[in-house]
Amino acid sequence: MAHSDVLVIGGGIIGLGVAWRTAQRGLSVAVVDPSPGGGAARVAAGMLAPVTELQYGEEPLLRLGMASNERYGAFAAELTELTGLDTGYRRTGTLAVALDADDRAELRELHAFHGRLGLASEWLTGRECRRLEPMLAPGVRGGLHVAEDHQVDGRRLAAALVAACKLLGVAFHRTQAAELVTDGERAIGVRLLTGEQLTADRTVLAAGSRSHLLPGLPEGVLPAIRPVKGQVLRLRVPEQYAPFLSRNVRAVVRGQHLYLVPRADGELVVGATTEEQGHDTTVTAGGVYELLRDAHELVPGITELPLVETGAGLRPGSPDNAPLLGPTALPGLAAATGHYRNGVLLTPVTADLLADYLATGEVPPLAADFAPDRFRTEVPA
Ligand code: GLY
Repeated sequence: MAHSDVLVIGGGIIGLGVAWRTAQRGLSVAVVDPSPGGGAARVAAGMLAPVTELQYGEEPLLRLGMASNERYGAFAAELTELTGLDTGYRRTGTLAVALDADDRAELRELHAFHGRLGLASEWLTGRECRRLEPMLAPGVRGGLHVAEDHQVDGRRLAAALVAACKLLGVAFHRTQAAELVTDGERAIGVRLLTGEQLTADRTVLAAGSRSHLLPGLPEGVLPAIRPVKGQVLRLRVPEQYAPFLSRNVRAVVRGQHLYLVPRADGELVVGATTEEQGHDTTVTAGGVYELLRDAHELVPGITELPLVETGAGLRPGSPDNAPLLGPTALPGLAAATGHYRNGVLLTPVTADLLADYLATGEVPPLAADFAPDRFRTEVPA
């Protein structure tokens, strides 16, 4: 029976980030996943947008997002130095634009909110927006330029994390976790689909929207994690049109968040729908139609570009849309899941906080607002 200090269930970028940082602390680590480096990050556009995606009432999440954004450059550089692989981290900034008077009023309010929180964002007229991004529709009524909301390529990041984990001796078990194993009081490991059992001093559940479905998990230890589907398109900018866009561009069109993320290699990612229909990753004609229709309204020239890929991923949404980070009510079991719209952004900080906890047994202060047991209600005696 293989034993490790730490066992991570789920080899998406969150699980891999935790595994890598924990292995750097000198602990032995194993990861269980049929396809490490897969998961929602393969579909995600990779926008790192704590400021432009800020929602009212989510200030603790903002603090976490800002902390992760600040770490991104060093995190990506360290991965590249170790593995020789580029993560696609790009300091582009983001332009959030308004297409009509209502959007403009909302963006103005967001700008005022940024000001109250001391966040750097600059109000631009429609003409100033088009000066930055000439492909924008002539009707753009104004926008917010956020110079510190950047981007990373989730696929490249995942590949670099797999390579980094291998270099640090992380053991990969390319199969599914069939059951969490407990000794009646604490989690002691997992049984795999192959029948093999792995034991560990501490197990970390990082299986996205399937985390709470792991057989053997005692009731009430994790809340239900909602799978929130996002359909995403990938287009290619031919050389004669480059640079089509120079920074992330986003807007709210018909109440839906729409964003365009231009990569250095000519890929242009357009996302994303928000649909709650269970564990379904079907790409629908309606989803593709809506994304193209709304993107065309924002950047009319988009219809000239080759459409090279469509896909759908599942955002793991906790009851309050904030992540679950750290020890659960079951001794021996920690969680790193529920990141909803912010999984790519929050990867560096999640990895650091979980590695700190796993190495020291202490929950770092930055993780305090995200305790996995915050949804538990006391059962009266
Ligand atoms: N963070 C963008 C999205 O989840 O669609």
